[in-house]
Amino acid sequence: MKNSGNKIMVNGTGQQLYKKAKKLIPGGTMLLSKRPEMFLPEQWPSYFRKAKGCKVWDLDGNKYIDMSIMGIGTNILGYGHPEVDDAVRNVIDLGNMSTLNCTEEVYLAEQLIELHPWADMVRFARSGGEANAIAIRIARAAAGKEKVAICGYHGWHDWYLAANLGDESSLDGHLLPGLEPKGVPRKLKGTVLPFAYNDFESLEKLVQDHDIGIIKMEVSRSIAPKKGFLESIRKLATEHNIILIFDECTSGFRETFGGLHKKYGVEPDMMMLGKTLGNGYAITAVLGRREIMKAAEETFISSTFWTERIGPTAALKTLEVMDREHSWERITSTGKSIGQRWHALAEKYELPIEIGGLPALVNFNIPLDNWMKYKTFITQEMLKKGFLAANSVYVCTEHTNEIIDEYFEYLDPVIATVSECENGKNINELLEGPVCYTGFRRLN
Ligand SMILES: Cc1ncc(COP(=O)(O)O)c(C=O)c1O
Repeated sequence: MKNSGNKIMVNGTGQQLYKKAKKLIPGGTMLLSKRPEMFLPEQWPSYFRKAKGCKVWDLDGNKYIDMSIMGIGTNILGYGHPEVDDAVRNVIDLGNMSTLNCTEEVYLAEQLIELHPWADMVRFARSGGEANAIAIRIARAAAGKEKVAICGYHGWHDWYLAANLGDESSLDGHLLPGLEPKGVPRKLKGTVLPFAYNDFESLEKLVQDHDIGIIKMEVSRSIAPKKGFLESIRKLATEHNIILIFDECTSGFRETFGGLHKKYGVEPDMMMLGKTLGNGYAITAVLGRREIMKAAEETFISSTFWTERIGPTAALKTLEVMDREHSWERITSTGKSIGQRWHALAEKYELPIEIGGLPALVNFNIPLDNWMKYKTFITQEMLKKGFLAANSVYVCTEHTNEIIDEYFEYLDPVIATVSECENGKNINELLEGPVCYTGFRRLN
């Protein structure tokens, strides 16, 4: 079914509510990436009433196909997967909370260890940032050392933002440039030291110059690891008795059934999984070798809602469905095809293009001065056609060939216009609102 019949009313009820939200909620929303300004300031629908498969309905009843961040990567099986939702509904009927513990956390721990035989023990949390903070606490306790070398984005907590104390640009290149460490105790300065991805020497130097006890990194984000990069890090960590942690909150289940490190055959000492583990329900995990994880018993890591039942129940069902459907293969193949088609479209209209990300988290950039304006224009025009779209697609199993074809049918003339703008047409006259924001920026 085509989306073209869909009459989209932009600048509707959602924008009105967002204006109110900005007065009531600092930052407007709890997640930077969901701020409407990141997509289409003053026009983005902002709020949803319903989400199902890869479709989203806004407050005015407009229906969109989500060809953007899909809840920021939480729903590989699509929104509201019937089997996962049924399992959750069953828990609601039986009870989500009690003084006694839920059995599901034990079974989930068992399954995650089965998928990652190098690990022996698991702790659960409900957000990726929490899982990262838990891992750092356990690792510091186990290593008896404080200094951490990092490469990637690892959440909002003090331990991580400490990397920007004294040098606001340290975290540039690690997903979110401009993150300010205001409110982070200055005493943490020097405890977290970033190294550059695919630059083994930069890590080696950190290890030579500092008493590093932990290396925490994303296995791969926008580019693939150079041959030997991950292997060299593993060797370095082992030789110096450093705990190696892979943060797979985002990369997990995108290309393999479990952590992406399985593809590269390099095993960490600890790992975090998050995002899609519960297909939209909050559940994240910290896995690790027994001798390290046991350190959790010598410190205090404990939280009420880490014991609720919906999270692990959703995860158990999600694992079952992902395994059955081989979802990681399907989303990888869809993502590869999207990347190739973006490339072909850019070639057709003689525009430069850079394709990045894991295939299932594919993104593009048009490296031209007006890129942010073009990106805004793409979102603006695709919204009118009933698509939530920017420059990255977090693929789910509900993104069928038919949907992808339709997306490209509508994207083609938009890219044609971008090309015309490079040849004299004025992009400013085509934009119906402000240009989208990039990275971290204050809202007011
Ligand atoms: C690799 C990685 N680690 C940690 C996080 C933080 O997770 P959360 O937003 O659930 O706290 C993210 C989120 O984007 C991530 O990509």
